[in-house]
Amino acid sequence: MTTDPGRRLTPIVRTAPAKLNLTLAVLGRRDDGYHDLHSVMAPLALADRLSVAIAAGDTDSRHVVGLSPGPVVDDLVIRAFRGTREVVRRTWPGAPAAPPPLAARLEKLIPVAAGLGGGSSDAAAAIDAALEAWGADLGEGERRGLALTLGSDVPFFLADGIALVEGRGERVTALPGVAGGPLGVLLVTPAVRVSTPEIFGSYDAGVRPDDDGAATRAASMHVAEELGRGMSAAALLARAGILATANDLIVPAESVAPGLTAFRRGLSRVIRRPVGQSGSGPTLWALYSSEHEAAAAADVVREAVSSGLLVAPGEGDPFIAATTLVAGGRKR
Ligand code: C5P
Repeated sequence: MTTDPGRRLTPIVRTAPAKLNLTLAVLGRRDDGYHDLHSVMAPLALADRLSVAIAAGDTDSRHVVGLSPGPVVDDLVIRAFRGTREVVRRTWPGAPAAPPPLAARLEKLIPVAAGLGGGSSDAAAAIDAALEAWGADLGEGERRGLALTLGSDVPFFLADGIALVEGRGERVTALPGVAGGPLGVLLVTPAVRVSTPEIFGSYDAGVRPDDDGAATRAASMHVAEELGRGMSAAALLARAGILATANDLIVPAESVAPGLTAFRRGLSRVIRRPVGQSGSGPTLWALYSSEHEAAAAADVVREAVSSGLLVAPGEGDPFIAATTLVAGGRKR
């Protein structure tokens, strides 16, 4: 544990990037009710910002500002602090009975429950920040085990950069960075609530691609192999059409939120690009050769929405943003 009091007064700041599922193949349902996946995931420059300091009071707290200052359904930052404290107490030699409470300030820029992994990324950042605040460390296995108790996507965020994610989400294989770029990404998140368990449930009930996901599996494996050998940003961009359909959760998401089908088609017509879905949605994405191009596309989409040419489902305006794929390492 740290004995440097000055260090405790300085907030620890972590960026918590969003993720994009470039592919998402569902391989099958497991005995524990989760599903085995094969997914190429990449961090985005779009990120939340988490500041953590030792708290004056006697409980952990977190204050949310930014895009979604309302109640966050599942408070993963607090759960991450508690989980980390427990593992530190059990495994870190010399840890006090209770590593001190932490106060977090979370600046939310990633839409919540959008398929972009915002909550999971916040949790991974919170584990990391708590360890630094307490001057503690954990072994790789403990860190990964703790991450998985917080959510299937959390282990991905402990690693840096683009990766192949398998199993429930616990097997994370780093892939070489994409040369060139960075590629621009347009994100469009309609204001519809989709529940991930409901979408997996719909998948289990047989709402899935006509070929039972054979094309998704083949595409996901092929792209992971290509990325493993080293791929340029231009080559990845050339795969955009294949990537956009390589998500087994598109069909069940569109059955749970029917307005998504027409919106995805309409969006694709407006931007004249293939449109993919991240995770279980509802975020839709398109790839561009630069952030500048993605920003121009974001303007086109905003205009189409405000003129009524493109009607977004849900209550309220969609979130529309341009960002980049962080396909190398990520900055802290
Ligand atoms: O792990 P996490 O809490 O993020 O998962 C949310 C829900 O998504 C789970 O309750 C489960 O229904 C589904 N899920 C799944 N298989 C995975 C990941 C998530 O069935 N690999």
